Amino acid sequence: MACSIEDRYGREITNLRFSLTQACNLDCIYCHNEGENGDRCSQITQQQIVEAVKLGNKYGIEKVKLSGGEPLLRPDLTTIIKKISPYLKDLSLTTNAILLPQKIDELYKAGLNRVNISLDSLNPSTYRDLTGGGNLKKALKGIDAAEQSDLYPVKINTVLLNTLNTNEIKEFINYAKNKDIILQFIEYHDTNTLQDQENYSQYHYNIDPIEKQLKNQADQIETRRMHHRKKYYIDNAEIEVVRPMHNTEFCENCTRLRVTSCGEFKPCLMREDNHIPFKKDMEKALLKAINQREPYF
Ligand code: 5AD
Repeated sequence: MACSIEDRYGREITNLRFSLTQACNLDCIYCHNEGENGDRCSQITQQQIVEAVKLGNKYGIEKVKLSGGEPLLRPDLTTIIKKISPYLKDLSLTTNAILLPQKIDELYKAGLNRVNISLDSLNPSTYRDLTGGGNLKKALKGIDAAEQSDLYPVKINTVLLNTLNTNEIKEFINYAKNKDIILQFIEYHDTNTLQDQENYSQYHYNIDPIEKQLKNQADQIETRRMHHRKKYYIDNAEIEVVRPMHNTEFCENCTRLRVTSCGEFKPCLMREDNHIPFKKDMEKALLKAINQREPYF
């Protein structure tokens, strides 16, 4: 059996999160770009991804998340999934779902287990404004395709943005009630790589009052092992609240190692200064990256 691996703070590394590309077909005003600063680089190759997953597997890492940019823009995504899925128990994709309907069947057949879909408004013009021109109808079609597929569970990521979508909480809950999806309300967080720091100060919304409201309305509440997440059930709608990262619990419970679209291990979402580029000896790079993991908060 594969062994497990811990960092110097006793945190087991169970997840790898790959940014497959910096390219995106949307331009969301809050996007942290997975902590990448947009510098040009040669894009991580299929071979490197497979090698990193195999290596992770040797250390007991059996969960992988593929994100971007928009991962569906990678033409070799299906092949990547086919090649890495045999090593994994949980393979998920974070996407805006715009291109999902035409790809979903082949992704599932290739071994994808589940999807997280970004959806920050149910109002077409707000959606367009938040995403730099995105088409809500297309995103909703992508969500429907996911719900009808065998990918399970389907999670919706909704970043709450003050005055922009905070008036839609009820609508989102109603939307979730009638669907087999999990709704995640996420607090907008700051990184050094936000496109626009001004947006953060203008639109950051403290999620506490929303959480209180959900608590009062909920038929049932569950606390997850990751303490910054709580789950509420309201009339069959399943809602998670993803707490702000700016607390020690976030770091204490961090089990993931990121991989940038440039082919580097990234020990912390918040830091740009300690990436470990893949070298000939990828194992050495992996171990060095794990050794460099420091709590940020
Ligand atoms: N704050 C919170 N969540 C963010 N995401 C991206 N940028 C931010 C941010 N600044 C998350 C959202 C989105 C996914 C791709 O990444 O959940 O759906």
